[in-house]
Amino acid sequence: MRRKVVAGNWKMNKRLDEAVALAEALLTVEVPAGTDVILGVPHVFLDRVVKLTEASSIMVAAQNCHAADGGAYTGEVSVPMLTSVGIDAVILGHSERRAQFGEDESLLADKVNAVLAGGLTPIFCCGEPLSVREAEGQNAFVEAQISGSLFGLTDEQMAKIIVAYEPIWAIGTGVTASPEQAQDMHHAIRTMIRARFGDQIADNLSILYGGSVKPANAGELFSQPDVDGGLVGGASLKAQDFSDIIAASA
Ligand code: 13P
Repeated sequence: MRRKVVAGNWKMNKRLDEAVALAEALLTVEVPAGTDVILGVPHVFLDRVVKLTEASSIMVAAQNCHAADGGAYTGEVSVPMLTSVGIDAVILGHSERRAQFGEDESLLADKVNAVLAGGLTPIFCCGEPLSVREAEGQNAFVEAQISGSLFGLTDEQMAKIIVAYEPIWAIGTGVTASPEQAQDMHHAIRTMIRARFGDQIADNLSILYGGSVKPANAGELFSQPDVDGGLVGGASLKAQDFSDIIAASA
């Protein structure tokens, strides 16, 4: 049985005291059986949030990493650095990183490999811009993102991936994909994974929806057969909203 996952992506928000307060507030949240909760935390707060949450079931993710293990890459953070802090996962290929930092399929394939080699879980993001959706090209667009970065993996590696579908037109806009739009794309993603990696990996793959997930829409989105939870931006910054979204994954 695949797991439901509710992951928060704090993006470039919070100062240390605020990050600590948010993580502490989430320690008392009741997590439904079958759901994993992951906090996507800015690098500078990771060590602190790992220590705060280590006695709980809450897992911690970085929002990016470099593909190299170390070296002359000023300002970058490697997977061995992240594993030494004790995190669980790394968000990769967020549309903000693709658009603002030029991350492409081949670079992301290298990052996915580095994260897997470090024993961490890649949360691999994909999703189309509005112009592509309007031209009804979203399935081909997402398929190219997934095949370009994940189809070189072994079955054993692919079994460790979480995919997050985040249509760019729904991120931070208040416009959510309808449950039907999310279900259609998630089913298409699972079908392309099935064609490449087979039934077992496809059936066990957690595919998260991201883009203006809120307490008011999470339940309907998460009840779609191929929607296995969410990657939540703005609403993950408020403990009550994020708790309500976690509860909606039951
Ligand atoms: P919002 O939930 O703020 O739309 O952000 C979604 C997102 O980008 C999560 O990675």
